[in-house]
Amino acid sequence: MYRYLKGIATFTTAAVAFSLGAQAVEISVVSGSVGRDIERLREQVKPWEASTGNTVEVVTMPSSTTDQFAQYRLWLGARNSDIDLYFTDVIWAPQIGQHLVDLKPHAGDVVDGFFPSIIESQTTKGRLVALPMFTDAPALYYRKDLLEKYGATPPATWAELYDTAKKIQDAERADGNSDIHGFVFQGAAYEGLTCDALEWITSHGGGQIVEPDGSISINNPQAAKALNVAKTWIGTISPEGVLSYMEEDARGVWQTGNAVFMRNWPYAYSLGNADDSAVKGKFDVVPLPVGEGGTRSAATLGGWNVAVSRYSKNKTAAISLARHLSSFDVQKDRAIVQSQLPTLVALYSDPEVAAAAPIIPRWLDVFQNAVPRPSAPTKTKYNEVSNNFWVAVHNTLSGNGTAEANLAKLEGQLKRLRGRGW
Ligand code: GLC
Repeated sequence: MYRYLKGIATFTTAAVAFSLGAQAVEISVVSGSVGRDIERLREQVKPWEASTGNTVEVVTMPSSTTDQFAQYRLWLGARNSDIDLYFTDVIWAPQIGQHLVDLKPHAGDVVDGFFPSIIESQTTKGRLVALPMFTDAPALYYRKDLLEKYGATPPATWAELYDTAKKIQDAERADGNSDIHGFVFQGAAYEGLTCDALEWITSHGGGQIVEPDGSISINNPQAAKALNVAKTWIGTISPEGVLSYMEEDARGVWQTGNAVFMRNWPYAYSLGNADDSAVKGKFDVVPLPVGEGGTRSAATLGGWNVAVSRYSKNKTAAISLARHLSSFDVQKDRAIVQSQLPTLVALYSDPEVAAAAPIIPRWLDVFQNAVPRPSAPTKTKYNEVSNNFWVAVHNTLSGNGTAEANLAKLEGQLKRLRGRGW
């Protein structure tokens, strides 16, 4: 389990310098918990603790990024000095950047190793407000064994996904496998649904909700079509309960062997191949399907970063820890053990990473072509934009209003938000 970090004997110069000159301190890091994130984090901080004499307290949050954001916004707004480091979602930089330390002056020696677009995503008003720890782009997970059994191939279109999922689900159920579902994804009303629905819409040629130039594009026939397609999945190839699934719920169904297909992020790859997984060695991944009338598969761009609070009383140590958590060694551990996509270019050609997590080199193209959520054009209003969007989508999937009516209403809400300035 503890495979890579054990051998690390190199520490950042900042950390060593700190240990010589200052008293040991405790740094508190707040992190959401998906998969083995927390367990690994406790291992990943150990070399830094050993080299600096400092200690790390891990404050655990729920897995939902929406819940985390609500809490962090309160803490930061209240200038809470109890938390030194925040793990931040890729979409947050423009919304909470004013509460975070500019890391540009502290990262000059390492910044060139990162993908420039990811550094750009964490730069707001000229300030680098977080260091990228891993990037994210989802996959369509599929059961190799089941597809083979029924002579099917991985679907290239959403229509094919439906047909294959339905065929295998029905046949397996008739065969006594009553718990099997065709397709699981993130259907709860939260940020995860924004990600999934953006993929359906973009892959149907329906735009990106709000375009990079700020124009509101969501009320269009292809977007409505995409939501209507997704609605047909509920209660047929997907359980009704998918409307309250987040990442870990979908993974739970999948990893106990009860789904033919799953939409999820790369972290589910290594967990799915772990010894305690019912699908170990039985699955593979492909990019998500294309929609009718669309020209491309669309993966929403995700990712997590580490940021230092402006209200931290131990900024020097906190910055040193942020550097460590985004360093080559820790990212390599995260890639090997947690199959999380590195933000450092060099790790995509690392043979140990490729051997342990083959999804990583394969996913370089997927993440580089991933679709960003409109957090850059909508700036401080992104959370409200996304909230309005996921409610419109959730209502549609639940049969609460048609896609067309819900998107028309959403367009009005977004225009009003823009009218108040974003
Ligand atoms: C993943 C992504 C993140 C996204 C979240 C939605 O954690 O990395 O960017 O917001 O999923 O649930």
